[in-house]
Amino acid sequence: METKIVKASNKSIAEAANLIKKGELVAFPTETVYGLGANAFDENAVAKIFEAKGRPQDNPLIVHLSSYKDVEKVAKDIPDAFYALAKKFMPGPLTVVLSKGDSVPYRVTAGGETVAVRVPKKKWARKLIASSMPLAAPSANKSKHISPTTAKHTYDDLNGLIPMVLDGGPCEVGIESTVLDLTADTPTILRPGYVTEDMLLKVLHSVVTFSGKIKIAKSPGMKYTHYAPKVYTVVAKTRESMLAEYDRAVSEGKNPVMILRTADEKVVKERHHVFLGKKPSDVSKNIYAAMLAAEKVFDEIIIENFGEKGLLGSVMNRVEKSAGHKEV
Ligand code: TXA
Ligand code: MG
Repeated sequence: METKIVKASNKSIAEAANLIKKGELVAFPTETVYGLGANAFDENAVAKIFEAKGRPQDNPLIVHLSSYKDVEKVAKDIPDAFYALAKKFMPGPLTVVLSKGDSVPYRVTAGGETVAVRVPKKKWARKLIASSMPLAAPSANKSKHISPTTAKHTYDDLNGLIPMVLDGGPCEVGIESTVLDLTADTPTILRPGYVTEDMLLKVLHSVVTFSGKIKIAKSPGMKYTHYAPKVYTVVAKTRESMLAEYDRAVSEGKNPVMILRTADEKVVKERHHVFLGKKPSDVSKNIYAAMLAAEKVFDEIIIENFGEKGLLGSVMNRVEKSAGHKEV
């Protein structure tokens, strides 16, 4: 199959909407990462997502809506907390897990009785959904690879497997949405993201974060390691261990690169490095693009520890997964 990249416009959105209605897949931009969409009500179309990505069948998909007001089309027994969250964070990078509506095929929810719902902020995503159907959509990468934040990244992974990639420019947020489970006794963050615990606590009385360290998976998706670059990746606890790891790799004949926020050139010296920026939002926006660029050129990636709190903590959560908890 030939895959075309098309600049998002009213005309290309109409073309993409037709593909969706015919049961085909379309990759589309959101503010977090690019998504691979299919009509959420069409089981056969949804099956194509798993096939194209090589995604395990037991990992459920998020249903994307153009407005939170459509939530009743895909979920039931919706708690007030959802509407309170929707008012503040939708559209935006927050996914909420609710009780599954009867219209949603089990293929979307991996057989489960809950459904994850999100309203993307990117205008083109909402236009596509509004002119077609609610979209079941995972990140538009091959399973286990890093999520794409440009149309080109998406094309690199899915070329030949899908008919169309809508190009809406680089993603502003750069990491996937926060996943919040409202079906748990206490609202539970299953995947940290741009919307942090502190932000949620402005709307909810209590929020807990599910620790990825617990062995039993609450969200089927939590069993899987995501986001791994194609080359050996480590997280450095300190600047010193980062430099030491770099120098060790070089002494072994490897070609490493360090990814860090900012640093004095005197610290990094002649070592290969990528600066993501000082602002947490720049770190989040640039992290995946930096990793995807690095894996093409280098054979070891060493990533700085950005910390545990807020948005930087969310970025770190992803990076740790990608590094498979290899720490130096
Ligand atoms: O920002 C995002 O969320 C992007 C864009 C495209 O919207 N999508 C995304 O989808 O990251 P995906 O499939 O790569 O990750 C969805 C995560 C998985 O970890 C999955 O297990 C979890 O959400 N998930 C989906 N449905 C769930 C459910 N019903 N209960 C618990 N976790 C669920
Ligand atoms: Mg993903």
